[in-house]
Amino acid sequence: METKKYLSDIHLDNYTEQYEGKQSLADDALFCGGRKIISLNGEWNYAVDQYDTCLRQKWFLEKYVDDNGFTLPVDYSFDEWDVMELPCCFNSTMPEYMLYEGSMVFTRTFESDQISACCSSDSTNDHKNDIFLRLGAVNYICRVFLNGEYIGMHRGGSTPAFFNVTKELKEHNRIMIVADNTRDPGQVPTENTDWFNYGGIYRDIELIMVPKVHIKQFRIALEPDGEFKHIRAELRMSEEVNSAAVLEIAELNIKKKIPVVNGSAVMIIEACPKLWSPDNPMLYDVKLSCMGDEVSDRVGFREIRVSGRDIMLNGSPIFLRGISCHEDSVINGKALTDEERLQNIRLAKELGCNFMRVAHYPHHENMAKLADEEGILLWEEIPVYWAIRFSSSKTYNDAENQLRELIIRDYNRASVIIWSVGNENADSDERLAFMSKLAECAHNMDKTRMVSAACLVDGERNMIADRLEAYLDIIGVNEYCGWYAPDFNSLPALMENSDPDKPVIITEFGADAMQGYHGTINDKGCEECQEYVYKKQVSVLKDIEYIKGMTPWILYDFRCPRRTSSIQKYYNRKGLLSADKSYRKPSFYVLQDYYNSMN
Ligand code: GCU
Repeated sequence: METKKYLSDIHLDNYTEQYEGKQSLADDALFCGGRKIISLNGEWNYAVDQYDTCLRQKWFLEKYVDDNGFTLPVDYSFDEWDVMELPCCFNSTMPEYMLYEGSMVFTRTFESDQISACCSSDSTNDHKNDIFLRLGAVNYICRVFLNGEYIGMHRGGSTPAFFNVTKELKEHNRIMIVADNTRDPGQVPTENTDWFNYGGIYRDIELIMVPKVHIKQFRIALEPDGEFKHIRAELRMSEEVNSAAVLEIAELNIKKKIPVVNGSAVMIIEACPKLWSPDNPMLYDVKLSCMGDEVSDRVGFREIRVSGRDIMLNGSPIFLRGISCHEDSVINGKALTDEERLQNIRLAKELGCNFMRVAHYPHHENMAKLADEEGILLWEEIPVYWAIRFSSSKTYNDAENQLRELIIRDYNRASVIIWSVGNENADSDERLAFMSKLAECAHNMDKTRMVSAACLVDGERNMIADRLEAYLDIIGVNEYCGWYAPDFNSLPALMENSDPDKPVIITEFGADAMQGYHGTINDKGCEECQEYVYKKQVSVLKDIEYIKGMTPWILYDFRCPRRTSSIQKYYNRKGLLSADKSYRKPSFYVLQDYYNSMN
């Protein structure tokens, strides 16, 4: 091996620069509803790669002999590596991986005839089709290689990545993905959060075959004009073609031809759908076809808007009886099963909720799909959390891209009513510029939803007064009166001092309580103290006219490296249920009584 090359492999300190190009961004997203998917979930070989040797030495090239035919020493043996069942959070697979942060290399082989056979009648990919790789989520950066070629990378720990792999596919394939969950102050979130930094390829790994010219994006929603009888459908093709699409909603007797001009189409259709709501989660099967491509979705039609200090669902004021929820599982980490998601929704409904704040990052797309089916409204959020590097344009681009990826992914979900651009960020000029621009981006992308953020209270004046509020439709406020602010008298004063001109949701209040730990209301961390905090909070908040919702912190205890006290043991214990959701603390019933009193 040439001395120079060998040295560069070892001494190349900016080795990741060569893997910064071909980033998967929001505009690369492909609408997948109703498409035939080839799953690459299952057994992958893997190695813990603490020093990123794969990227430094380019293991993906599989160079076993030099240019003169001499055998080379290599530091890997892919097919003999241990096996991991993907998707998963590697932290949950083996005790020694629980606290690991860094790169892991995942690889497997697959035959391309699996794709053609499953996706189309012809036995070969006769190049009338394109093949995309979709990764549901990898935390935080992933770099993808196929048959020795660098395919691209994605940044962001909770949104999907898309790569066109048509050209690189062969009959026999080796795919390799390097996943790196190293925290970093310039990322979104930064290196400091109040949740566990799970890692790995933890959502689905899929191949999708589409016609060369295909439906790239498809959005459909009730037009928010207060009339409830106009459905807006929008589509964008993969190329600027002039053609016609057909939109079909059989239950509404709609089969409409839509002109496609320069690859785009917008159509507003008269219709009187049964309106979707938590009490009546009515969904319609929608089909869209164009130039031989066909996609589908199950869509609810509803209108959410603000009127003065009211939140209006389908023209009627609504109080959002909510609860916050992390994407966390004792057994599966952040890789929840659909059964766990469904359990969380049903526990929230048992609590009397019509609303959930799925914090602090985009949860799996199935959370919103299940919420559509089960009937519960959602607040979805990007992890612009605490002290983000607000002065960095790279950090802003990362945040905006994650927001756009989330909106594109979940636009057709009736349950999602609020996009949140962040949580608990101190009010500074840079932060105001950064987050108001995110709010503007969300407003420009989506006229059918509200934009909010979980803001801090102005501690000096003890009032709701965050400059970001001017850019939001709904003000989210985190307040911990009775806990971090122990003097409960600060709560009535806070409410008295504030006079917001738009609806307020109390996006967090709460207290830690270790299940089974009993004491007085002054014993921080016992069930009685948490119960007292909930009773006092509810006794004040219930009478405040401008509060139109609440999502107390939090449905169930969740893993958190910052929490080391004897009652916490690396868990945040503010849950109304224990971490395994087997135990309801007394506060569960305090909140349930309050919500049920509203019905
Ligand atoms: C903050 C933060 C949460 C955190 C909570 C707590 O408000 O938004 O992510 O877990 O407080 O301290 O428990």
